[in-house]
Amino acid sequence: MASFIERMCLHIVLVLSVFLSITQAVDRSNFKTCDQSAFCSRQRAMKPGQSSYRALLETLELSDSHLTLQLQNNNNKVRLLLELYRLQGNMTRVKINELKPVKPRYEVPDVLITDPPTEPMSVVVQDEHGVVLSLGGEDRRLILSAQPFRLDIMEGPQVLLSLNSRGLLAFEQLRIRKDTISHKISSTVGSIWDKIKSVFSSKSQTDTEEAGEKEDTEKHDEEKASEGEEEEVEEEVDQPGMWEETFKSHADTKPNGPSSISLDFSLPGVEHVYGIPEHADSLRLKNTDGGDPYRLYNLDVFQYELFNPMALYGAVPVLLSHNTHRTMGLFWLNAAETWVDISSGQGSGEVLQTDVRWISESGIIDVFIMLGPQPNDVFTQYASLTGTQSFPPLSSLAYHQCRWNYNDQEDVSAVDQGFDEHDIPYDFIWLDIEHTDGKRYFTWDNNKFPQPKDMLQGLLDKRRKMVTIVDPHIKVDSSYKIHTEIRSRGYYIKNEDGGDYEGWCWPGNAGYPDFTNPEMRRWWASMFAYDQYEGSMENLYTWNDMNEPSVFNGPEVTMHKDALHGTWEHRDVHNLYGFYVQMATAEGQIQRSGGLERPFVLTRAFFAGSQRYGAVWTGDNAAEWGHLKMSIPMCLSLGLVGISFCGADVGGFFKTPSAELLVRWYQAGAYQPFFRAHAHLDTPRREPWLFGPDNTDLIREAVRQRYTLLPYWYLQFYHAQRTGQPVMRPLWVEYPEDIATFSIDDEFLIGRDLLVHPVTDEGSSGVTAYLPGNGEVWYDVHTFQRHDGAQNLYIPVTMSSIPVFQRGGSIICRKNRVRRSSSCMENDPYTLYVALDSQGNAEGELYIDDGHTFKHETDKQFIHRHLSFTANSLSSSDLSPDSQFPTASWVEKVIILGVQKPDAVTLTTTDGGESSVEFEFDPDTAVLTLRKPGVNAGVNWTLHLR
Ligand code: GLC
Repeated sequence: MASFIERMCLHIVLVLSVFLSITQAVDRSNFKTCDQSAFCSRQRAMKPGQSSYRALLETLELSDSHLTLQLQNNNNKVRLLLELYRLQGNMTRVKINELKPVKPRYEVPDVLITDPPTEPMSVVVQDEHGVVLSLGGEDRRLILSAQPFRLDIMEGPQVLLSLNSRGLLAFEQLRIRKDTISHKISSTVGSIWDKIKSVFSSKSQTDTEEAGEKEDTEKHDEEKASEGEEEEVEEEVDQPGMWEETFKSHADTKPNGPSSISLDFSLPGVEHVYGIPEHADSLRLKNTDGGDPYRLYNLDVFQYELFNPMALYGAVPVLLSHNTHRTMGLFWLNAAETWVDISSGQGSGEVLQTDVRWISESGIIDVFIMLGPQPNDVFTQYASLTGTQSFPPLSSLAYHQCRWNYNDQEDVSAVDQGFDEHDIPYDFIWLDIEHTDGKRYFTWDNNKFPQPKDMLQGLLDKRRKMVTIVDPHIKVDSSYKIHTEIRSRGYYIKNEDGGDYEGWCWPGNAGYPDFTNPEMRRWWASMFAYDQYEGSMENLYTWNDMNEPSVFNGPEVTMHKDALHGTWEHRDVHNLYGFYVQMATAEGQIQRSGGLERPFVLTRAFFAGSQRYGAVWTGDNAAEWGHLKMSIPMCLSLGLVGISFCGADVGGFFKTPSAELLVRWYQAGAYQPFFRAHAHLDTPRREPWLFGPDNTDLIREAVRQRYTLLPYWYLQFYHAQRTGQPVMRPLWVEYPEDIATFSIDDEFLIGRDLLVHPVTDEGSSGVTAYLPGNGEVWYDVHTFQRHDGAQNLYIPVTMSSIPVFQRGGSIICRKNRVRRSSSCMENDPYTLYVALDSQGNAEGELYIDDGHTFKHETDKQFIHRHLSFTANSLSSSDLSPDSQFPTASWVEKVIILGVQKPDAVTLTTTDGGESSVEFEFDPDTAVLTLRKPGVNAGVNWTLHLR
């Protein structure tokens, strides 16, 4: 049991954190600026100019799969090894590492789903100035200039992208501290150097072997060079922060000295760049000249500020560039603290260009250049590297009710009943940290939740589900099984001295399991088995929070960088921690079901590839209009880099929303991928029925709209999993040539066919929405009014709804009989909304499966249909004839927008049956409603308008 002092301390921390969070905005002094980060300020002090690196062309080797070449730093003669790959699918990979590091440098594992397949390159021209390589297709070439070192990727006469064109390549080599050596072993420097080198040289030996025979012949020269190198290194002047730095009271020691890397990329003709979440900033990234770079370092930031490049909870080092001709992507595969500078301006020859410079604290340069050319191509390219969004259980796309905290079983049951009484659907109710026995995850507070299985069974009976929070900090308590197991198995992250690293978090003193260790992850996954996690059942899912990791008393509220994950420093792996926590948890959920059921895990911290393991949310926002607005670019940015399942706390976490803000947030959240209301412990209760009957009606309507559209959401996630296309999309993704769309981040598309413009201003009486697409038509989903594309349209609004439009040319399937949960609607009939384009055509799809297992994958148990309206006939045909799934759902109604009145409507089915169908036509809106075609949703049929 926790000591009295421990409990008091925890109480003080809690009260203090609650107090601070309620009364203040972010305390910026807790977080570093670039100036306060030694490596960032060292790198940023380096100004563009001639690169200090030259390519040693005589070391060039071209194999079937890649090219290798050494680069040499003109100043200190240190050599780097460059590897260049032409990857399948129009991508180029550039890796740069030290040729002979004193010990291996960290290369990010587990993020790439495969070793990316390569394609051969061939030399077109080579002379003493450089090499021109053919990258195949469309006259694509790569020009490698030797002195100074630079790479240009060309298509025909056009430079698509240049690497190191501003000469900002920098690679701080690992080193052994001179004074350490001279103090301890002054007389035997040479032999110790050799020993240390031989211990750590296994990696560089491999590199050397791979580099082949040529290197052998040069060995002698090189040894000479490295002798020179040692001399030069000894002459190099240490700068502040190279071996240790302090931030506030925290010291960070760097056993191998400075290790940062940096590289610049120029994008001629590019003015718009996006991505590199997570930041609370506009969708289009801003110039960082004169301010701080965008920072990627997973941090727990209390009350984050808007329009700020400060780091937040997650990091995806992927940047997209876009202009009317081409979309490209840069994926900087590095998990250490990273800063990204962006500078747009006049390039050479009056051409506008954007320069992007990446700076990371450690690891290697490993960058993937995705050449598009269309936005969809970049999504496909990135998905081929890191995988796609996992296909979530259908119910997790429905509405989630959360707060910190639902106090006890009675509270859960009262809230559950409240939803029924007010006829508002919901699928998941969430329990925050207070449900546990003293913040010991995988346990229940016995007084408040004495019978968790009864509670879960009660929910199951209503076909509803629950999520409990399982954070990765583990209470140090010798009577807590999870802790004693992790400790005895040696799974905790370690201090430099070999002891377990401990820090403060919700439970007080806590250990942090080393999730980078696959054995640890296997063990963690096994803890979700029903016989391990007592009180759990199949309708219990998981929320991983505080996995940046959050350490209340650590530097910048996170872990000390010199803590150890096996042989790696936390510095190397920091941004991967949350990724691994969610990975292990999702795996646990899959395993507990014997591999049958799809998992649902929400995470706060994330990295590239996190899309494979579940959903993310934007952390501790506030009940302010600005935060509601910001939820749009934050989720759009995540979607662009593969993470489609994104949402923000509906209502705002900190502070108390007005009824108007809450209603507007429900209306916006209903059209964002992850739809969950959440609130801070210290805020007044805000279940949807607590704001008077009118507001209850408005919230009910917003939630019901979500439920009617679940078939469409599910289809979008099915596509996201198959193709990597984002579910929630910026307009420019679908209208890549329309400049007017490039900076829009107050409206968005869901899939291709729904355009949403949330109302995010207090007291708004109207919004101006941009309807994209020359020749496109859009139908207001509430009034069915038709509007032309390529115009700004003023739309008056009341409190009853937000503007949503369906694209002419699309068919959207809804289920209009909303019940208490999505599972209850499983066999309900569909209504098809057929919105005709200006030629009188429309197309859509319908996807159906059991909604929760992997049987769609393993047993082809699904229905995927193509719906098409052309020449006055609407038909449903099979897109996947070799799959099968029995459905009881049928087509109840068809609503055709923008059509002329027919004289008669008939239905034909494949068995030859023909029947007439009742219809109604509204001449004012040109809406035709066909009643009860009555046909099963899984079969072929045609409706003829005669
Ligand atoms: C963190 C989470 C928040 C949660 C709280 C207590 O602040 O971001 O959502 O309610 O911790 O677990």
